[in-house]
Amino acid sequence: MARPEILKCVLCGSEYSPEPERYVCDRCGLDGTLDVLYDIDTIKKKLTKASLSKTKDMSMWRYRDIMPILNDVNIPTLSVGWTPLYENKKLASKYGIGKLYIKDDGRNPTASLKDRASAVGVVKAVEFGQNVIACASTGNAASSLSGFAAVSGLESYIFVPEKAPSAKVTQLLVYGANVVLVKGDYAQAFDLATSAINKFGWYNRNCAINPYLVEGKKTCAMEIAEQLDWDVPDRVFISVGDGCCIGGLYKGFRDLLDLGLIDRMPKITGVQAEGASPIYKAIKENSAKVMFGDADTIADSISVGAPRNWAKALRAIRKSDGTAVTVADEEILSAIPELARASGVFGEPAGVAGFAGFRKMALAGEIGLDETIAVVVTGNGLKDIESAKKSVGRAMLCAPDIEEFSKLIASY
Ligand SMILES: Cc1ncc(COP(=O)(O)O)c(C=O)c1O
Ligand SMILES: [Zn+2]
Repeated sequence: MARPEILKCVLCGSEYSPEPERYVCDRCGLDGTLDVLYDIDTIKKKLTKASLSKTKDMSMWRYRDIMPILNDVNIPTLSVGWTPLYENKKLASKYGIGKLYIKDDGRNPTASLKDRASAVGVVKAVEFGQNVIACASTGNAASSLSGFAAVSGLESYIFVPEKAPSAKVTQLLVYGANVVLVKGDYAQAFDLATSAINKFGWYNRNCAINPYLVEGKKTCAMEIAEQLDWDVPDRVFISVGDGCCIGGLYKGFRDLLDLGLIDRMPKITGVQAEGASPIYKAIKENSAKVMFGDADTIADSISVGAPRNWAKALRAIRKSDGTAVTVADEEILSAIPELARASGVFGEPAGVAGFAGFRKMALAGEIGLDETIAVVVTGNGLKDIESAKKSVGRAMLCAPDIEEFSKLIASY
């Protein structure tokens, strides 16, 4: 556990003390998301390669010496993080690169990377004495918050677009959240949630507003580094919606650099769907700001036209010397079975978008033959069965009769 020292605006550098009601920068408004900064010199003495190699905690909390929690007792019992990082030689050789690693974050308890953030969110709510926590979400932040609120004994209010996949909405109801299906898109759900949170005084779990949540997401980067014995990959691919996950990866690698646990920053590549690509456009146009627009993609989790954490997303890409790439919905869909068949990892559309982006860049010859790549699969495929079905053929239908079966496979 580490007491955050300062919250610092990612745009103008203004500094704030970590009071419960402090979410964003006064000068920059909602655009001015805050970084959580610590006393690195003190933490450095405690958090070392040797101390980590001795810890028995096989969850993201193994990094709690550089996480913004004040007391271990509030850590939820639901295990999160330390998800597998699989090397895949088959795909590395198929796409002509050095090494490929797949980080399966769909293995988290509610089946997405968002669990890392929600786990921190509920700890902060408890620390700040709040009983109700709320968020807007394309679906996964919602299902993870409802799960973690349940184990931490908090009431949750969740605002999701009416069209969120039914598996995700069902998860919310199962965990006992108060679920609001908003007749509109994610941007409208976000605005309604923000108004309700302000009006009723609930704790805000929106990752693009609450600075502590990215501190949960950063552990994904820390795990990648530690699982590779601190020899970080050359590039990391991850899908981008609001920009919090990619911002978290950058913060994780940045903290490790500051602690002296790694010696370079991997190039972070953000992957967006063609129909929802404001971050990609800002990178390609070298623009300081992101233009908000419409969103239309099968990958519901990254169907975001107004990315609220755009400042952290642009910084992650630019400061790591990374890039952004878009993929068509067909490329996302075809990535689902390809990744599943080659690695056993079944991702939802946004979950495999990072892999689709990697594949596109590799096929275009934009990745070196000797490069080591990590791809983060951000959510499990069972979250969105309707999309998965579009990416595969049909099962054979057969009477319980061996003769019929023999004819069927002969003609298959
Ligand atoms: C499975 C999945 N992948 C990627 C993302 C994108 O994350 P962010 O909105 O932080 O950019 C999300 C966000 O909901 C998600 O659920
Ligand atoms: Zn600011």
